[in-house]
Amino acid sequence: MNQTLPTLKVALLGCGVVGTEVARLLTEQADDLALRVGARLELAGIAVRRVGHRRAATIDRSLLTADAEALAARPDVDIVVEVIGGIEPARSLLLAALKGGKPVVTANKALLAENGAEIYASAREYGADLYYEASVAGAIPLLRPLRESLAGDTVHRVLGIVNGTTNFILDRMDSSGAGFAESLEEAQALGYAEADPTADVEGFDAAAKAAILASLAFHTPVTAADVHREGITEVTATDILSARALGRVVKLLAICERCAGIGPGNGPGNGPGNGQGGVSVRVHPAMIPRSHPLASVSEAYNAVFVEAESAGRLMFYGAGAGGTPTASAVLGDIVAVARNRLAGTRGPDASTYAGLPVMPMGETLTRYHVSLDVDDKPGVLAPVAEAFARHDVSIEAVRQASRGAEAQLVIVTHTARDAALAATVRELEALPVVRAVASVMRVEGEEELCPRRSPRPGSITSGSITNGRA
Ligand SMILES: NC(=O)c1ccc[n+]([C@@H]2O[C@H](COP(=O)([O-])OP(=O)(O)OC[C@H]3O[C@@H](n4cnc5c(N)ncnc54)[C@H](OP(=O)(O)O)[C@@H]3O)[C@@H](O)[C@H]2O)c1
Repeated sequence: MNQTLPTLKVALLGCGVVGTEVARLLTEQADDLALRVGARLELAGIAVRRVGHRRAATIDRSLLTADAEALAARPDVDIVVEVIGGIEPARSLLLAALKGGKPVVTANKALLAENGAEIYASAREYGADLYYEASVAGAIPLLRPLRESLAGDTVHRVLGIVNGTTNFILDRMDSSGAGFAESLEEAQALGYAEADPTADVEGFDAAAKAAILASLAFHTPVTAADVHREGITEVTATDILSARALGRVVKLLAICERCAGIGPGNGPGNGPGNGQGGVSVRVHPAMIPRSHPLASVSEAYNAVFVEAESAGRLMFYGAGAGGTPTASAVLGDIVAVARNRLAGTRGPDASTYAGLPVMPMGETLTRYHVSLDVDDKPGVLAPVAEAFARHDVSIEAVRQASRGAEAQLVIVTHTARDAALAATVRELEALPVVRAVASVMRVEGEEELCPRRSPRPGSITSGSITNGRA
């Protein structure tokens, strides 16, 4: 039936977790794909590091080669799919393919987050397609909605759980009360975490995805180095309990925000600002209300919440990793570039016209949740409130619970410059009435769109002091 259709040859670079599934789906769904594309998609070869290595039975071993460069450069290859990962040789392979005018599909978040500008520029210069849906949140269609569906809108904020490993660990800590180390071990035993979990638990993986999301959402080049990154290794069972007590849950969030200029009179506490707008891109653990849509994202699932001017709030949810789900996103891109190739056209470039500055973390407006172990005696609240006031930080709520000679004071602030909040915590640590700063965490998911104004520093706008003696 499809004998009359033309053939497009695909060079598959990499045959690991994702590549194996891409090869299987390309083969098993060949007839359907041919009808959807209008051409047969045929594997020209599969580049791997170890040709003699054991492979899934679905892999045609006669296609294997150790020479990825030669395979991608073959004149009969129409589409190059890179699922090797890492920076080199992936970067050189992609650049060479684009230079040769060949469309490229990649799942490589690390490469795009580090060398995105160079690769996007090369795609533009040589008029070649560059599709990378699988690089962020696996199977979840997210980059195409940002790049195409929302191209006419103004995205204000992207807030997401984009790393399944850390979500699994935090979910376990929340549901079982276990500590970080114990929950990580469980994640490793179940195959949700690597033997070396650094890239996940230290937030590197999420930071790379945040850079890609921010670049697309704000039409601005953002690299992994621009992203403020904190992992979850310091999150304690106390943090989780503290969050629970206030109806919140701890998640590792990738947060990309468009922040209007903090101009004169618009700075924290209505003080003078720096007058410059920009974007804030960060990855860190944060408390979010249990009623927030992201709070119910459990296990290793991913979800991304997008706030746009006209579209309003959108939520994307699904499997953020795994061979088959990720291969689904890769296949979708292969079909798209194949259709473009047949039509003699190409997809949209990642536009970076806005060129907004990336704000330093210290200038970003955040809110803190601070839990203090303090002396249970009168007059404790005053020096604590003064420390916040000295740094222009206003308090939204205070809650105190007595525990014998000691009391626990939980303070949630209004938005303030992150640097001011961090300086306040340092000062609190040195106060004689403070026995220990038990937990410090940012609070997200309750704010209005940036920029946010804070009430008068040091004022308490709401609160419940359960023990009036503080
Ligand atoms: N795994 C996921 O769930 C997931 C999700 C989203 C995105 N991604 C991204 O997808 C990409 C691939 O991930 P993966 O998990 O499939 O990686 P993987 O299992 O480690 O597979 C990597 C593949 O690349 C091959 N390779 C390594 N160096 C090579 C070289 N110099 N020349 C040719 N082939 C080479 C390896 O060959 P051998 O087989 O011989 O070792 C292997 O087949 C990465 O960019 C990753 O970030 C993965």
